[in-house]
Amino acid sequence: MPTSSTSTVHDLVAAAGQPQLLAFWEQLDAAGRDRLETQLRGLDWKQIADCQRLAASRRSAAAVAPPLDLRAAETPPCHPLDSGERAVIEAGREALAAGSVGVILMAGGQGTRLGFDGPKGTFPVGPVSGATLFELLLGPLKAVERRYGRRVPLAILTSAATDAATREFLNQHEFCGLDPEQVLLFQQGTLPAVDAPTGRLLLDAPDHVAVAPDGHGGMLAALAGSGGLSWFARQGVETIVSFQVDNPLARPLDPEFIGRHRLTDASFSTQVILKTDPAERVGVVVEQEGVTRVVEYSDLPDELAAERLADGRLRFHAGSIAIHAFHRAFLERAAADADSLPLHLAHKKVPFLDAEGRLIEPASPNAFKFERFIFDLMPLAERVTVAEVAVAEGFAPLKNPSGAASDSPETVHQAMVAYARRHLTAAGITVADRIDVELDAASILDDDDLRQLATSGSLPGNRIDHPQVVRAGEYRSL
Ligand code: UD1
Repeated sequence: MPTSSTSTVHDLVAAAGQPQLLAFWEQLDAAGRDRLETQLRGLDWKQIADCQRLAASRRSAAAVAPPLDLRAAETPPCHPLDSGERAVIEAGREALAAGSVGVILMAGGQGTRLGFDGPKGTFPVGPVSGATLFELLLGPLKAVERRYGRRVPLAILTSAATDAATREFLNQHEFCGLDPEQVLLFQQGTLPAVDAPTGRLLLDAPDHVAVAPDGHGGMLAALAGSGGLSWFARQGVETIVSFQVDNPLARPLDPEFIGRHRLTDASFSTQVILKTDPAERVGVVVEQEGVTRVVEYSDLPDELAAERLADGRLRFHAGSIAIHAFHRAFLERAAADADSLPLHLAHKKVPFLDAEGRLIEPASPNAFKFERFIFDLMPLAERVTVAEVAVAEGFAPLKNPSGAASDSPETVHQAMVAYARRHLTAAGITVADRIDVELDAASILDDDDLRQLATSGSLPGNRIDHPQVVRAGEYRSL
């Protein structure tokens, strides 16, 4: 590397007050210097200054967002998702048939709690099929296309940790039946971690600054930067629904949800469940002075989380399941000002090099990591619509490893089997006791498909006696 460039990189870190980042510069070979310099030049120093200011103001705190005075907050009114209101469902169906709905699957997280060494979407969780989360979540897009005759454009948010393996998985699995043209992968960015006591950036290798994913709120800048928003616009998408990779019962394309979003002219709609356990790790949707927002579970003080209304429900009972519908124009406006999303910080264990160049694996939190959350756009929306779905009908997240009491592969299996049994039974199909059944994600969209199956005569006696994946044979267009 030429000397002038060497002195410039020294100038850069000196100006940023971070000379420790070049502590091992003299020992690096040309390739190492190149890697470090490229990374340093790529950092957004203005954002880093914001991170450091936040860290300074929160030096001793554990994991808190800006304190909110929640004493005056209430749970906003929630529309039941399965009200069956015809006009609402029709409006959603029309939007799907017009091809004006697109989705974003958030799959950038590292699934640390699950302890799975790969993108969470590649985790097999179908109780009978062994289908992966990606197959279970992408299948319904195929089913919607068959029903409504229009493709649903899908953007998948990845991160440095999940991007390559996600691409490889999709290629190997033929995009789970979707046309590769209908799928856009885009990658969120990273933000450096800062040493909690000093606010300095850390190295985790002599030629690498310790960074962490910038949170799913990084989706906004990444979507705009990758051309994703215009990609949706070119295809006529007006409503964009984002959902998480961990919930195989997710209903991002539910016609009633989309119809309600459209008919209420909301720029941001969201799905919630009735939160019943104060310790449940879901954010809550609250309303305060006409502004609706999500308060993350880690930011809700225990005593407020446990407070109850006179009717016995939790005072903050609208548990967010992170399925959000946005008006595309609203996302475009927000993306034009990426700082519209505040930074959250978390006190975490971040491995770092000490002054002698030894990699230290801290036993307790030593640094702050920074993230943005996409739901922080909610207070900026002119109109927010909240739809409440029954847990059994829309929320079975995979968060924890096998054997955990909640949100584990076993609890997801149980929820998926119970869902299938309930809907098969309602359609007039008898399922023998104690057998596992699963609905094929790519061919069974809703109860109409099951009723059609029941009248088709293709299931002898309309009975299921052995574990099986139930598939619909034919597809009708509306
Ligand atoms: C999340 C929500 C919480 C909600 C709950 C419902 C956040 C901060 N909290 O909690 O309000 O009630 O789900 O299940 O979202 N992801 C990225 N990039 C990242 C980080 C996460 O794409 O940098 C994705 C993950 O792949 C996953 C989703 O965001 O799909 C949720 O992330 P996770 O960290 O598991 O959030 P939870 O703590 O479960």
